[in-house]
Amino acid sequence: MCGIFGYIGKKDTAAPIILEGLKLLEYRGYDSWGIAVVTNGHIEIQKQIGKIEGVQTSLPKSSIGIGHTRWATHGGITKINAHPHFDCTKQIALLHNGIIENFLDLKKELLKKGHVFLSETDTEVAVHLIEEYAKTTSLSNAVEKCFKRLKGLNALVVLSLLTNEIIAIKVGSPLIVGIGKEEYFISSDPIGIASHTKNVYFVQDNQLIQLGKTFEIRDCSSGLYITPTITVIDWDYKSSLKGKYKHFVLKEIYEQPVIITQIAKYGKEDVQKLTNEIERAYGTFIVGCGSASYAALYGTYLFSKVAKKHINFSIGSEFNYLEDYLTKKSLVIGISQSGETIDVVEPLSKALKKGSQIAVITNGLGSTMYRLADTKLFLNAGVEKAVMSTKALIAMLSVLLLCAYSFEKKQNEGSLLLEAAAKDVKRILSVTEVNKIKKLAKKLAPRQHIYLIGRGLSYAAVLEITLKLKEAAYIHAEGFAGGELKHGSLALIEKGSVCIVVAPNDETYASIISNAQEVKARGGYIIGFSPIDNQVFDYFLKTADLKEATIIPQVVIGQLLAYYLAIEKGVKDPDKPRNLAKSVTVK
Ligand code: G6P
Repeated sequence: MCGIFGYIGKKDTAAPIILEGLKLLEYRGYDSWGIAVVTNGHIEIQKQIGKIEGVQTSLPKSSIGIGHTRWATHGGITKINAHPHFDCTKQIALLHNGIIENFLDLKKELLKKGHVFLSETDTEVAVHLIEEYAKTTSLSNAVEKCFKRLKGLNALVVLSLLTNEIIAIKVGSPLIVGIGKEEYFISSDPIGIASHTKNVYFVQDNQLIQLGKTFEIRDCSSGLYITPTITVIDWDYKSSLKGKYKHFVLKEIYEQPVIITQIAKYGKEDVQKLTNEIERAYGTFIVGCGSASYAALYGTYLFSKVAKKHINFSIGSEFNYLEDYLTKKSLVIGISQSGETIDVVEPLSKALKKGSQIAVITNGLGSTMYRLADTKLFLNAGVEKAVMSTKALIAMLSVLLLCAYSFEKKQNEGSLLLEAAAKDVKRILSVTEVNKIKKLAKKLAPRQHIYLIGRGLSYAAVLEITLKLKEAAYIHAEGFAGGELKHGSLALIEKGSVCIVVAPNDETYASIISNAQEVKARGGYIIGFSPIDNQVFDYFLKTADLKEATIIPQVVIGQLLAYYLAIEKGVKDPDKPRNLAKSVTVK
């Protein structure tokens, strides 16, 4: 949440370099943005509300600066609240990712000392506190002293006019230093840096980073300076660009057949490591947020069905209230595209503290989660830029399927199902099928509510499609387990109510069709996603019949429907839904 980017080096183009970096990080927050650079003996700041795409910088030449894209927490979306923020002397500019939980107390204290605040943010207290401490100690010590007083999970990045350096420190929120030729970069994630250098350092909690003529790391717990361990990130930067597609989300939907095929070829050893952990554990939880939580839910049904294993499922933010019975024998599997979602990082960290085992399924190579766990499965879905998850979610479903099949030593069977799923997704992406989906989108665009029903594995699909419809098209969509309808929600159905029925050719088929009939009897308009057309459907979109992999084409149809509904409704940028951010690193 919030993108941070900084540059120090020989080039005098710090501002455009930072602006480009921020554009790459914008999916982390797009309420406002701001850049501060040192120029002609002062710090100059440019701030603006709204998105950064197509914007040019008006800042002068400089070889050092910091920038930020904001996802608002404290204080409205205004230019004044945009980062960076100045201290009273305008010699320090600061930006921040996180929430300073005790900012009101600190603000009172600083107001008494005469500090003047301009914004409503929690962030501004940090820069004034540093100013206060810097009156009696060095700037780096002042940053450390300030940071120790902040409650919550935070990252601070400070630009100093007097020492001409960038100082950073963090707990929880991710920060990465890129090491170039006589230049350094600081970024919230490697995507921002990928076009400049492959050599990165993942900043650890409570390390104070000083980027000046040199790069220094001080471990604040021991006070010792440490030598950085450099990781080489071999990313194809070009693959993170939009290419011929109008939106990233469409590009990412079209990449899915290749990703599924790639996962079908996963090595047995990779998958076996995770299945061995599940086999050994006494109580396994799978924990994720948003789309990943629906992958986790799918996992629960899937492991029960295919592997005869009971795996508990929890939404990341709810795990805090379920973790009391974790023991040393428990296994907590975090599932996350980014590997940074704080609501998943926390359960994993808590599990580690309790001596439980942890494992991670993620697309975030080198991310916080990736580094926490010894057992990890890398999704390798490439950079996902659109806020709504498509290809990473499909990769999660594919990997889980393979794992479940590998229990019965049937990984090959799982691979074959995935190959068939990739083929069906290609069919769905054909012009003919996409046109059917576009036609449906046209029909549904004026609707304010869409209901979805499914059972078993398809219940997870229903919830995932529901999320897509909300995120992309701003339509109120609600997903129900088919059997639950009659326990209350059926009261919502009236003449013309739209209900998507996800009906695979499995043990749920007869019952879900009965539920569809119940909705139809009350005037509902029924859209079927199924391998079998049925007279109850008013509109039919076909999926192949792929046993437990049928969820893949089901979800892909839902993704396309959500995207084309967004287009029909004139949503300006389906890649960046209002109020959201891709990587959620605050609670
Ligand atoms: C955000 C995104 C969702 C995503 C969720 C979890 O809310 O908008 O699309 O599913 O975070 O992200 P993760 O990176 O942990 O999979």
